[in-house]
Amino acid sequence: MADLFVSRSLEEIRFWSRIMKEHSFFLRLGFRCEDTQLINEATQFYRTFEAIEQKALSFPEETDPATIYAFNQEVHTAVSHIWVFKRKVLGLILTCRLPGQTNFPLLVDHVSREARYFRNRLEELNQGKLEPLPDAIIDENVFFLRIMADHAKFIGHLLDPSERKLVDQARDFSHDFDQLLYQARDMDSMRPQSQTVPLLNQFLDQNRVSVASLKDFKKTARDLIEQCKIKSIIHPLLADHVFREAERFLEIIELFERSLTGISSSNRVLHH
Ligand SMILES: [Fe+2]
Ligand SMILES: [Fe+2]
Repeated sequence: MADLFVSRSLEEIRFWSRIMKEHSFFLRLGFRCEDTQLINEATQFYRTFEAIEQKALSFPEETDPATIYAFNQEVHTAVSHIWVFKRKVLGLILTCRLPGQTNFPLLVDHVSREARYFRNRLEELNQGKLEPLPDAIIDENVFFLRIMADHAKFIGHLLDPSERKLVDQARDFSHDFDQLLYQARDMDSMRPQSQTVPLLNQFLDQNRVSVASLKDFKKTARDLIEQCKIKSIIHPLLADHVFREAERFLEIIELFERSLTGISSSNRVLHH
């Protein structure tokens, strides 16, 4: 029988190592051509995460858990290093030492938050302790709603200003997700009293509807960019990247909704 620890670890690494690889690519695109040291570092991270991705894809589901435990540690080290690199780049940008480079500071902060998230997931997997469902629901939503709100802002700012309709739509999504993020933070501060089945159900339901519509918007944008039908400075891979992240958030919400239904039908107490 396939080991849950093995399949969860491989699934997580397959998704996020590709994301880390693409972050290296986006960072490199934004550097100035004279910043050869930074370009080399980014290229090195690209290779590291590509190798990790290939390795994760090649491990069969029957792999010995001890092998995966060691692999998780190896990936953890690589993720810690790319996090340090991203924070270093953020520092250089914010102290105006890379004038003219083209990655927004918020984007660099954003990709570092994604690295930290991935690193935490690897720690949780290896320590074998998963958060209780009601805590996971709030924490994952606080994390991903901010990620979604950022994406809407990046899209809005990287579209050509002449794409007025799309820029407006992106701004609406940004506002919508900022509001959802505040609601999620309110649920967070009202813990544990806010962790009832009806409140969490409603919370997930509302978030799912907005994420589904943002996902559709990103898909449309991605297709338009790939077909060269709109004016922007968005790389097609970036458009696909943010689409995949929305897809993942949606899957996580749906998984939570199924787990909550299981809990309410068995009348388990949520508070812990
Ligand atoms: Fe990302
Ligand atoms: Fe992202």
